[in-house]
Amino acid sequence: MSELSLAVIAKLLVTPGKGILAADESTTSIGKKLIKAGVQDSVENHRLYRELFFTAPGMEDYISGVIMYDETIRQIADDGTPFPKLLSGLGVIPGIKVDLGVKELDGSPQEKITIGLEGLDERLKEYYTLGSRFAKWRAVITIGEGIPTDNCIRLNMQTLAKYAKLCQLNQIVPIVEPEVLMDGNHTIQQCYEVTKKTLAVLFEELKLAEVDLSGLLLKPNMVIYSLEGDKVSSLAVAEQTIKCFEEVVPKEVAGIVFLSGGQSEVEACQNLNEIVKQGKHAPWRFTYSFGRGLQNSALAVWAGKAENVEKAQEAFLNRASLDSAASLGEYDSSLEIA
Ligand code: 13P
Repeated sequence: MSELSLAVIAKLLVTPGKGILAADESTTSIGKKLIKAGVQDSVENHRLYRELFFTAPGMEDYISGVIMYDETIRQIADDGTPFPKLLSGLGVIPGIKVDLGVKELDGSPQEKITIGLEGLDERLKEYYTLGSRFAKWRAVITIGEGIPTDNCIRLNMQTLAKYAKLCQLNQIVPIVEPEVLMDGNHTIQQCYEVTKKTLAVLFEELKLAEVDLSGLLLKPNMVIYSLEGDKVSSLAVAEQTIKCFEEVVPKEVAGIVFLSGGQSEVEACQNLNEIVKQGKHAPWRFTYSFGRGLQNSALAVWAGKAENVEKAQEAFLNRASLDSAASLGEYDSSLEIA
């Protein structure tokens, strides 16, 4: 795939009816997730879990690209094929999470700054040789008493812009993920204000860093209620989300691929569907880049048992097909299996 331009790869990742599977939980995060599901935390179980998704028959009908973690991109399927090769053989683009997580922000300990710029150029070069053609970097913004601070937003967005530029210099499509968390009890209006401000600063910084927006994907939160706040309809989520993006996201951005955040699989799917319906005339293609929103049911069904793999794959393919429908604005809740 080395001959394709960044803009072409970015467009392929948002092929109509397809979206991205985020399978890039860090070793610690995936371990916690497995333990919660009653599965032993081991490198081999991480591998078996990822293989379940990557070998689900026909997953390539719904999945354009997979974001892996450093451990995952080096792992090998049961038949001896390295994961990136397995995916590219299916026409699924291999991707890699390259940030190294978060640390407390100096002077504002309830806030976080994402780290990982040091040595990033070398790591990107290696990931390219391992088959990766796109990358992801996540910044987290928390809404709470007196936060986010302007400093937190500015530093995180500057870092995202530096990462994006380095990716493009290495022929890797950057996904920029400035996630405004659902944690807390804020309103959708507060989420709207903070998301708008964050995205405005992000695009200022991307411009200063001379990042080519046609070779970049935005992975944002939806403009949405908080986990402890009152829920609102999918229509309200869609209207606020599109209004926000139309105000601050340049039309040149190759695509918008949502994270699922703390939403349930069904909620994330319904909200995406409504965004696509309401955003028909927006300049960008909207689709999914879900982690939990694509994996939760499959993990529960699998429970670490070889005899459950097929059923878990069916659960994943069912969810992926519904998300695919949602990305076309064709989801119908009667399609949900009880
Ligand atoms: P969720 O869809 O579970 O939010 O994960 C997406 C992701 O890539 C977070 O960085």
